[in-house]
Order: sequence, then C-alpha cells, then structure tokens
Amino acid sequence: MSIDSEFSRFALEYDSYNTIQNKVASHLLSNISSSPQTILDLGCGSGAVARSIEWNYSHLIAVDFAEKMLELHPDLPSIERICADFNSSRLYEYLRGIGVEHIISASALQWSPDLPHTLSLIRSLKAPCSFAIFTSNTFKALHSYADLPPLLKSSSELKLLIAKEFQAEYETIGYTLEFSDTQQLFRYIKNSGVSGNRNLLTYTQTKELIRTYPLKYLEFEVLFVHTK
Ligand SMILES: C[S@@+](CC[C@H](N)C(=O)[O-])C[C@H]1O[C@@H](n2cnc3c(N)ncnc32)[C@H](O)[C@@H]1O
Repeated sequence: MSIDSEFSRFALEYDSYNTIQNKVASHLLSNISSSPQTILDLGCGSGAVARSIEWNYSHLIAVDFAEKMLELHPDLPSIERICADFNSSRLYEYLRGIGVEHIISASALQWSPDLPHTLSLIRSLKAPCSFAIFTSNTFKALHSYADLPPLLKSSSELKLLIAKEFQAEYETIGYTLEFSDTQQLFRYIKNSGVSGNRNLLTYTQTKELIRTYPLKYLEFEVLFVHTK
C-alpha cells in the first residue's frame, strides 16, 4: 500500500490521536510574528495549522496527498484544498503563479522520500518558511528496545540539508506522552500517523513487543525551523 493511501486509511481515527501534532502546530504558529495573507500549508492533514492561525488571512492553500485527510480539513471560502504530492513540480508551477507569502509545514516533511528535492522546490517559491519536522529521537527508547533503526533523520542531519537551501533559525523541542498501558501506547503509534504508518515489525514481533515493552510513555523530538 502506498504511503498516501496509508494516511487516508488512518484519517478517520487521526483526529483523536493527534495530541502532539496539535501542540507542534500551535508552537510553530506562535513564532510567526508577521500576518501573511497568502499562506501555503504543505502536508496539511486534517487542519492543525488552519486551526492554529490566529490572524485574519485572505487565502490558505492546504496541500495533502491523502484525500481522506483533506476531507477532514476545514472548508471555508478562504481555504483552497489541493490533493497533491508536495514533491510534484507541477504543484509548484501553479503555486509560483499565486505568489505565496509564507510557507508552513507541520509534522509532515519528515515523510518526504527526497527531502533535498522537496526543500529546493519549496525554495523556488521565494517566501519565508516555518517548518516543524520530527527527528530520529522520536520513539527513541522504543527503537532502542526493539533494536530498530530510527526511521527519521536526526536534528543535525536535517539542519545540514536545510542550510543548503535556506538561512534559518532552529529550535529543538522534546515532548513526552504518557499512556495508561502498553496497548494504548501501541494503538497511538498505529493511529497517529507519527510513524508514517510503516510496519517495520511482523505481526508476531509486534505482539511480543506489546507484551514485554516496559515503558508507558513515548518520546518525540521536533525540529522547528524559521527561514529568513
Ligand atoms: C502527521 S500528519 C500532519 C498533518 C498536519 N500538518 C498536522 O500538523 O496535524 C502528516 C501529513 O502529511 C501528509 N503527507 C505526507 N507526505 C506527503 C507528500 N509527499 N505530499 C503531500 N502530503 C504528504 C500526510 O498525508 C499527512 O496528512
């Protein structure tokens, strides 16, 4: 199954599992001091960014490649929802014609299969950007316990890639989410979209991990980026 249809498959449950993403979107937005009128949201999902914008804007372009996520996104006259891959050159041809004033992407760019390419496409829009990107320290204890390689890039790898395209300011924040039991913890991983819904373990391995995993919390680490 492709990743876009995986995100669509989990879309209905996503909104009750996106605690961390909501905090991330709200922190990202709190550090945008201008009030841009034409805003692009890449990997918009069900609209955490749209819901965190506190100023009046004229046009929000919300892009996501998972149709079912877009269906959950606020639908207002000022919002244009586009079902597209944020790595598609055609999308950026269209966006260049619009004149985007600020580009936002919360909790989505870590899933780009080719981040350098995505960043160069984004830079072609010549607008300030605010990104929140999950790093390899997300689920660190779990990955180390299960002897799994990190799925994501480290904060320093991300900074090196970003610095090739942008001058930026960075902030790294860690979050912890507590659960009442291990079942809940694993249900969260499955339904939140934080893992990109990729199954690295077989069914039997997962069952064994749920049975033996000693911790009742998950750690997340997010790199916040504001370009100049
Ligand atoms: C974890 S969710 C975050 C959604 C939202 N930005 C938020 O803050 O809650 C990641 C979103 O990125 C979207 N996504 C991942 N890769 C994408 C791509 N290549 N093009 C467009 N959307 C993508 C997924 O469909 C999903 O809705």
